[in-house]
Amino acid sequence: MLDAAALNNPLREGLSEARTVQSCIMVIFGATGDLTQRKLLPALYSLAADQPPLPASFTVVGVARRPWTNEEFRNVAKEGIQNYARQPYDDALWESFSQGIFYEQVEFDDDAGYRRLGETLDRLDHERGTGGNRVYYLATAPNYYSDIVTRMGAAGMVQRTTSGPSWGRLIVEKPFGHDLSSARQLNADLNQVFKEDQIYRIDHYLGKETVQNILVLRFGNGIFEPIWDRRYIDHVQITVAENIGVEGRGGYYETSGALRDMMQNHLLQLLSLTAMEPPTGFHANEVRDEKVKVLHALVPLREEEVAHCVVRGQYGSGWVGSEQVPGYREEKGVAPNSQTETFVAAKLHIDNWRWAGVPFYLRTGKRLPKRVTEVAIQFKKPPFSLFRNTGADELQPNLLSLRIQPNEGIALKFGVKSPGQAMHVRAVNMDFLYGSSFGGEPPEAYERLLLDCMLGDSTLFTRRDETEAAWTLVDSLEDSWRLAPEETKVQSYDPGTWGPHAADQLIERDGRSWRRL
Ligand code: BG6
Repeated sequence: MLDAAALNNPLREGLSEARTVQSCIMVIFGATGDLTQRKLLPALYSLAADQPPLPASFTVVGVARRPWTNEEFRNVAKEGIQNYARQPYDDALWESFSQGIFYEQVEFDDDAGYRRLGETLDRLDHERGTGGNRVYYLATAPNYYSDIVTRMGAAGMVQRTTSGPSWGRLIVEKPFGHDLSSARQLNADLNQVFKEDQIYRIDHYLGKETVQNILVLRFGNGIFEPIWDRRYIDHVQITVAENIGVEGRGGYYETSGALRDMMQNHLLQLLSLTAMEPPTGFHANEVRDEKVKVLHALVPLREEEVAHCVVRGQYGSGWVGSEQVPGYREEKGVAPNSQTETFVAAKLHIDNWRWAGVPFYLRTGKRLPKRVTEVAIQFKKPPFSLFRNTGADELQPNLLSLRIQPNEGIALKFGVKSPGQAMHVRAVNMDFLYGSSFGGEPPEAYERLLLDCMLGDSTLFTRRDETEAAWTLVDSLEDSWRLAPEETKVQSYDPGTWGPHAADQLIERDGRSWRRL
């Protein structure tokens, strides 16, 4: 028999229509922050405007320290929805949606505040018919997470089931800890109050359509999987490039850097989806079992390898087009001698049968030439060169690029004969573009993830062991930086370039080069 989550999992063929949620209250801790206004409320509004819509009784309770009224919170919500929601703003829909938005001021260390909040939630359950179902969303600064959950538990606000007549679930925003030991501690704290199957650790990359499509491309087609291994693939490149700087988040970024902000979560998620074995079914645990095996198989770098396998960069000041931009060290909240990396490139190996000897080159950074995320599968050259002196030898071998964003799509590069009497071979692209094939805008990542949580489907959320395995790798990189500080010190790069020169050397040393994107 299929469980509720399986029935609601659209990756299961034929079951894609059953996406109707039970009504609930979403309680957002950190409601006055940017994430709530730019992402969460617009995503909820778009879900309310979607088909099937969220139930009319769906309720949001914003919780934070500022003394806002319901009215003030609704105004901020309205502005966020008008500016950022995928679905167009509609007065009538806003009228009904806003009736379900409330605000409660709570100091995060004040037990009385949680008891008051609990009473408000009980009252709203009664008035709005939300049946005691709750999604709690932690969107505060991460140092409050443990305390909030512990006090919620003490106030008796938490249902100990993820399904049933009255359920409770917890969504945790990133960063989930800042190293392995803090992540373990946080997991232990959360598990005091919530069971593992009630905890939804969010990585918004998993909510992106194109990221989910990595699984469909690999396991929904017969032609790719037989060649998806060391016999045919030369290497894999994963790029997550941003053209923006730290955008006023210098204070946070100083404690994180590109390694923690992007590599620990988004890049390693892309890597595990690309490298995992086929799961036996599309259920939360089967998919995550396979992903976590990849993370466990990542080979920690040996001390003598670090200098060659990891590069850290930091953007300096300069011009991007006609705009003059500050260097990272001049950003608000950043130390003038900061050693925090805004760029990181690494060469990793996965120690298993499928990937033995296939390097995975990863890079991510801010103030790079453009915003682009791509997974590129570089195939090997044909074993024998039949078309010598025809241009074929100089051709790049086949390449499959999964363009995650923007211009979402998939392209396969291969050689063809140029028309004419002579035998000339040229590389061409076979291109699939989401925009042209499907039109319209796909749902935002947060829409998908919030809905999945309300449905009780945790396939696209990170499990405890996955988070800890990712931190194990990140810790090993950091340790090696400490062991070889000179060789791995952060190198400056000009804004609008692809990072420090050493990043090119990292891959060129192996006779390969980064994709020109
Ligand atoms: C966030 C990081 O997780 O992802 C940000 O904290 C980064 O620093 C953002 O800008 C990138 O997300 P996206 O969806 O724009 O690629």
